[in-house]
Amino acid sequence: DGLPPFGNEPMVDFTRPDHRAAFPDALARVRTQRGKTYPLFINGKEVLTAELMPTVNPNNPSEVLGQICQAGTKEAGDAVAAAKAAFPAWRDTDPRTRADYLLKAALIARTRIFDLSAWQILEIGKQWDQAYADVTEAIDFLEYYAREMMRLGEPQRLGHAPGELNHYCYEPRGVAAVIAPWNFPLAISTGMAAAAIVTGNCVVYKPSGLTPIVGWHLAELFREARLPDGVFNYVPGRSSVMGDYLVDHPDVSLIAFTGSLETGLRINERAARVQPGQANVKRVICEMGGKNAIIIDDDADLDEAVPQVLSSAFGFQGQKCSACSRVIVLDAIHDRFVARLVAMARAISVGPPEDPAHSMGAVADDNAMKRIREYIEIGKTEGQLLHEGPVPAGTGYYVPMTIIGGIRPEHCIAREEIFGPVLAVMRAKDFDEAIQWANAPRFALTGGVFSRSPEHLAKARREFRVGNLYLNRGITGALVERQPFGGSRMSGGGTKAGGPDYLLHFMDPRTVTENT
Ligand code: NAD
Ligand code: ALA
Repeated sequence: DGLPPFGNEPMVDFTRPDHRAAFPDALARVRTQRGKTYPLFINGKEVLTAELMPTVNPNNPSEVLGQICQAGTKEAGDAVAAAKAAFPAWRDTDPRTRADYLLKAALIARTRIFDLSAWQILEIGKQWDQAYADVTEAIDFLEYYAREMMRLGEPQRLGHAPGELNHYCYEPRGVAAVIAPWNFPLAISTGMAAAAIVTGNCVVYKPSGLTPIVGWHLAELFREARLPDGVFNYVPGRSSVMGDYLVDHPDVSLIAFTGSLETGLRINERAARVQPGQANVKRVICEMGGKNAIIIDDDADLDEAVPQVLSSAFGFQGQKCSACSRVIVLDAIHDRFVARLVAMARAISVGPPEDPAHSMGAVADDNAMKRIREYIEIGKTEGQLLHEGPVPAGTGYYVPMTIIGGIRPEHCIAREEIFGPVLAVMRAKDFDEAIQWANAPRFALTGGVFSRSPEHLAKARREFRVGNLYLNRGITGALVERQPFGGSRMSGGGTKAGGPDYLLHFMDPRTVTENT
């Protein structure tokens, strides 16, 4: 096929002066586009609507980045109709040709990697390296799923019976609704959309209301890659207005969702009801929240464990489904670990991410700020406050970096996903108790163990039952192809983004037998 084997896109390299200089340049460049009105994109055409919604910088909410046309049910319906009309020709397009569109989009994304990063710094408050990593992950999804479809696109011959020819192949399901969160706004949107497209489905994409400009740039990538009209449609809009409509639509056959448990369960339930005129049993790909723990064994290397726990807990303000929100420390090492954790946390500088000296900034929006502050108050009554970081002056949606000790499995902040910079410290009497506590919440997304004991690491492999388990390293930053990502139990359906089974969820297998 002439393609080199898949390899992950390199991370940003701050030892390179050109990389360091590129961020301020890109921030200044994208700021020249502030205040623009963003249309919908349906059937290859821009569509303006009367209702506009601003999108703002969470570190400075008075900075309006753009006005977003809002899709209502009419526009969502138009997008489904466009996707449905485009489907037969797209389904019958050769898988290699479909893969080529993804490779083209990856090529375009690479040429504007700093601008795509700058939009995330402004629209959702990612630090430079975090924003860049989201764009490289989006490129990885495009490159990886293109190759995966070339692997799966060839019909397989099955059986050896004389006089019989069996072919087994995969076909797409039809119209896919892709419903994305704001926290990995380009990577997760690109991953779900690219998988749907390359497998031959046509997409109606609803970005999060907090990151519609980043979502618009995905539409631009596919448009510039000259994807046929109707194969990818961009319909930002209020979920309270058009979310249920899209999920319930009888012509939607597949829903790829990543977001909270509450929304995921609602979508699952609604999608199970058959609507008049519906032709397919809907399939829901559903990846949801986490309440992830790192266990610190009594022989752990604290030089490794302390910084890795901090970056897993507070990177991007703890707003990752993979983030560490509980650290379970064995009694023998607890006080030493906590002293070092708090000392290092004090050194973390907080403020707008445009300044790379800051490694923590504002959370996503006003609602997130209020919710997280409420959890901090609950946590203070459940345990003891070990660290409360400073909050910068200004109108940004800031909450303090917070570490609370003395937390037990029954406490609220040990069970519920807070999705912010709040870390619960739990003191376990031994490794067995630590594993038991780690598995206690209903979520099972990521988890980690720092230990030098081969027996304990082996026990964790067997018994610490999460979708992504990391031994002696941080628990965020899964890479496409190397760490297929996604949870089990109430964290998700086990579909594993960036892994060898992912595309199968977007297709139905088919068998053709000929008597020869
Ligand atoms: P959310 O559930 O609030 O929203 C996700 C998307 O669903 C948004 O586009 C939203 O507009 C849409 N939506 C909301 N109600 C809807 C409805 N009734 N019908 C259709 N769509 C609807 O989640 P969020 O705040 O955007 O993201 C944060 C959550 O996502 C956290 O819980 C986090 O753990 C989870 N997450 C999980 C993964 C994973 O891979 N498991 C990855 C990233 C984020
Ligand atoms: N894939 C993201 C991570 O691993 C969520 O942090």
